[in-house]
Amino acid sequence: MALEFTRIEVRKLVKLYGATRALAGVSLDLQAGEITAIEGHNGSGKSTLLSILALAARPTRGSLRFGRLDPLERPALRGRIGLVGHAAMVYPDLTGRENLALTAQLYGLSPSGPEVQGLDGRFELGRFMERPARTYSRGQLQRLSLARALLHAPQLLLLDEPSTGLDVKGVERLTEAVRAERERGAIVLLVTHSRALSEALADRRVVLDRGRVVSDGDAEHAA
Ligand SMILES: Nc1ncnc2c1ncn2[C@@H]1O[C@H](COP(=O)(O)OP(=O)(O)O)[C@@H](O)[C@H]1O
Ligand SMILES: [Mg+2]
Repeated sequence: MALEFTRIEVRKLVKLYGATRALAGVSLDLQAGEITAIEGHNGSGKSTLLSILALAARPTRGSLRFGRLDPLERPALRGRIGLVGHAAMVYPDLTGRENLALTAQLYGLSPSGPEVQGLDGRFELGRFMERPARTYSRGQLQRLSLARALLHAPQLLLLDEPSTGLDVKGVERLTEAVRAERERGAIVLLVTHSRALSEALADRRVVLDRGRVVSDGDAEHAA
């Protein structure tokens, strides 16, 4: 079963939380090797869009296609997605290294294989990796979270405020890592309030307002 895709089509996505309309009909096309920045005020629906694409939340209405596949009917596609979200999704009582080993196993990779070993150099994960994750600073947690999201070479990379807590060097490493993912051919969605990060990375900008796309740098592709 091939779970490969180089395009994502989002059509007329609506997400209701009770009386709150988080998404009010979002259509978007994403392609491999492109970094799309999603911008908009607080509450405009950015995180909701990312969580639906991460297959962590289901849309109320609308459709998604990952290539020719409907991800809502193919939960195995989760294995092709990497997410850096607001919550770090790490086990606090395990060390960073144990967290990465566990994630590797979830993806069917060896916990001591090259994918896991290579992360140390890529993200300069230091001695803190041997301590329980609950002792980490915000920046260390963010670095672990990013390493964890990239470990399995995801085809879709979703980054929600990935520079939170990072120092200047950390932001540089993040920028390099995300560029490398683009080179590899990943589809990248970036939510950030950092103008600098957006300018350094984004090939295209999409602006959300109250759950709608109000500006799309690539609108001719969307229905
Ligand atoms: N789990 C939830 N339950 C209820 N309302 C939610 C939930 N998640 C998001 N919302 C609401 O949906 C709207 C969009 O939120 P969100 O997608 O987090 O926006 P953004 O990431 O752009 O700040 C907001 O009004 C928010 O309060
Ligand atoms: Mg958000």
